[in-house]
Amino acid sequence: NNETLATVYHGIIIHSLDIGNLEFIRNGLLAVHPDGHIAFLERDVGQLVKEHLFIIFSYSQVVTLSKHQFLIPGFIDTHAHAPQYVYAGTGLDLPLLNWLSTYTFPRESAFSSPTYALDVYKRVISRFLRNGTTTCAWFATIHLEATKLLVDVIRANGQRAFVGKVNMDTCGPDYYVEKIDDSVKSTRDFIQYVLDSEPDTSKSSNSSNTAKPTRLVTPIITPRFAVSCTAPLLDSLSTLASEHDLPIQSHLSENPSECELVQSLFPHCRDYTSVYDHYKLLTPRTIMAHGIHLSSEEIAILRDRGTGISHCPNSNFALQSGVCDVRRLLNAGVKVGLGTDVAGGYAPSILDAVRQAMTASKACKIQYLARAEERVERDPDYNVLTIPEVFYLATMGGAKLLNLEDVVGNFVPGKEFDALLVDVGVADGPIDVFDHDTTESLFEKFLYLGDERSLRAVWVKGRRVAGSSNSDEF
Ligand code: GUN
Ligand code: ZN
Repeated sequence: NNETLATVYHGIIIHSLDIGNLEFIRNGLLAVHPDGHIAFLERDVGQLVKEHLFIIFSYSQVVTLSKHQFLIPGFIDTHAHAPQYVYAGTGLDLPLLNWLSTYTFPRESAFSSPTYALDVYKRVISRFLRNGTTTCAWFATIHLEATKLLVDVIRANGQRAFVGKVNMDTCGPDYYVEKIDDSVKSTRDFIQYVLDSEPDTSKSSNSSNTAKPTRLVTPIITPRFAVSCTAPLLDSLSTLASEHDLPIQSHLSENPSECELVQSLFPHCRDYTSVYDHYKLLTPRTIMAHGIHLSSEEIAILRDRGTGISHCPNSNFALQSGVCDVRRLLNAGVKVGLGTDVAGGYAPSILDAVRQAMTASKACKIQYLARAEERVERDPDYNVLTIPEVFYLATMGGAKLLNLEDVVGNFVPGKEFDALLVDVGVADGPIDVFDHDTTESLFEKFLYLGDERSLRAVWVKGRRVAGSSNSDEF
């Protein structure tokens, strides 16, 4: 019975041990326990062991990868809007505030219909899984019923996720704004729904010392941004987060006009970051999207609070928001992960975020070289991000930002098996392999040229959830 057997993958395994420390295991053995945990990871197994695999692991299924295949950890999208997927790739002609009122609010208001929401949510979750996003921090809409349906769809499809019912009680159009009491009450109901329908067994005391499964879906407190929340709502939401010990997500310092608007709405706060800090929304479990136009003082607040930034370069370019200097955040000790920000960002793929993060980093360097005085002020030897660094942001960096670093992000034994089986040699795929190619060059080609077709299998907690191979033969 396959259900009771461990699975051992034999071949090339690539993961991040730390930022910039990418490990290539050329002849590895990775065993996945039937409960979804990584049982062991052996490096550079010798020929003798290779020949006796079936004897040694007679209690296991052995999957031998081909030379153009490798295992990597699943991608972590630290910021995306599930309802906005319907217009991804359109409406990118306006800056943030006009984009919100022209395209976003009308489209999100349609999620008052549960049947519409169910259809869209099935499609977006399936699309993200096919692109290798095994964990995602989702914004839904203000609607309680539709947001519950998003949770149901995510569970049915097996993605690991944070899901937030969006809160906004001011500065929205009449057709898409909440009364503060309704906003708080439906957030409470939503938290209850998510927690009650999937009890967290990882914290229960149990004499067995085997690792217990973590929850698949976690509710996350989601004030849309300071502009759309009154002070009493921000207060209530930080209380809810601490009462239930929940993560928080929002937007910070994305666009200059937005920053000015926040300053005018909260004149008693020194800057945008201080608004969230004043209402106790900056915690070690807070994810702030963008963080482009931050002063050094604001960056220091984020670092001191343990709050991290979701870097969403596609959106930052597409909405003309600005170029986020990730090197500056990393040098200051701020946690960073990658986000697609669908649909301010048009691509439902962390591979795209990897590419645009490289481009954004190069744009920073180009700016600094052109403006010598800024370059001196910040970092005289500005180094663009490297492939190992950006791959880290896409996997372990995201895991740390979501406080899931003990659960996912790389293949350390004891963690859960959230993984991608990459095949750069897939027939009719996006990548051509040449004789001079090495494991390193094929990995880099995958990051720059790969797409859904390159992912033969996608697993979350050891469960196969997507992949271009339609059987267990890879
Ligand atoms: N700020 C407030 N709401 C949004 C949103 O939906 N997308 C982006 N990119 N920024 C926001
Ligand atoms: Zn966003």
